[in-house]
Amino acid sequence: MPDLAVVTEDLVRCFGEEVRAVDGVSLSVEQGTVFGLLGPNGAGKTTLVNVLTTLLRPDSGRAEVAGIDVVRHPEKVRQAIGLAGQFAAVDEQLTGVENLTLIGRLSHLSRAEARVRAGELLERFGLADAGGRLAKTYSGGMRRRLDLAAALVAHPAVLFLDEPTTGLDPRSRIDLWIAVEDLVADGTTVLLTTQYLEEADRLAHRIAVVDHGRVIAEGTSSELKKQLGGAVVEVHLANAAEAGRVAEVLAGVSREAPSVDGEVVRVPAGDGTAALSEVVRRLDAAGVTARALQQREPSLDDVFLSLTGHPAEQAAPTERDAPGRTGGRASSPEGVTR
Ligand SMILES: Nc1ncnc2c1ncn2[C@@H]1O[C@H](COP(=O)(O)OP(=O)(O)O)[C@@H](O)[C@H]1O
Ligand SMILES: [Mg+2]
Repeated sequence: MPDLAVVTEDLVRCFGEEVRAVDGVSLSVEQGTVFGLLGPNGAGKTTLVNVLTTLLRPDSGRAEVAGIDVVRHPEKVRQAIGLAGQFAAVDEQLTGVENLTLIGRLSHLSRAEARVRAGELLERFGLADAGGRLAKTYSGGMRRRLDLAAALVAHPAVLFLDEPTTGLDPRSRIDLWIAVEDLVADGTTVLLTTQYLEEADRLAHRIAVVDHGRVIAEGTSSELKKQLGGAVVEVHLANAAEAGRVAEVLAGVSREAPSVDGEVVRVPAGDGTAALSEVVRRLDAAGVTARALQQREPSLDDVFLSLTGHPAEQAAPTERDAPGRTGGRASSPEGVTR
């Protein structure tokens, strides 16, 4: 395989006249790395993945996966890749073993080879004990792991993971992260989409932030965070009327001035915890009682706010508020993400 596992140049894919879902994306993914596409619902992540996995044709531009052109040789691309998504494509009426064996057979393994491979993968993803049970009895996290295993049956050179942990509880999310980290340690190249900065942060070597079909920032996680100016101390007041005075009290705590948003005063905190203790000291000296005080890391919302000047908007109804969704933007307290 070439050094670059994925290359796109000015890739465009529209839906009708109105929607430019992928609007001129150029990126390169080095072999053996994890590349994160970070963006909110409707940003164009799935469309881009669908073009790269040959499920959709681009309108213009160029894309190569494992050195193969996706338009000219889609069937060859399909042999080189694995895809696991937000909506696990497992057959509920089959057991874990049957699901994987079936895929092995479809990938031209012999019956015996397919069984061996299924056993290996179930073991690897902590599903060995559940292998004989119907997939419909699996939890959400188990299904995602089975789906991931299915994507790996044919030893793909490049693995695409489209929002692999959206909708999972925190424990299952961490299990899946560990599974992905193991794969990468073995040299698999992964292109991952996510709505969570935390997930991109943990898994991705490089991150492209996408909004409205375009890459609006790209770099390592620490490069992006530096661009954001690091953590923020938030002072939640009982009363918005106090906010102006409190902002004055806190002026000079860091180089950037505090900002006021309703009853919340935000102070850029840089890298350390010095700002937090200084904020506490000053509030105390000024006799201000805060309703809540916290330091938080930049969230995806902060990335968007900072890069685009507008909060990440929702293009479509999301499952963000769906029942059962216990994970999510834990770093963004209510009232902060608007
Ligand atoms: N099959 C389709 N037909 C029409 N519009 C679509 C279709 N698929 C996606 N879109 C639109 O393209 C944009 C990008 O969607 P998508 O790629 O699913 O984003 P993401 O995966 O980042 O949530 C959205 O505005 C979405 O409504
Ligand atoms: Mg999507």
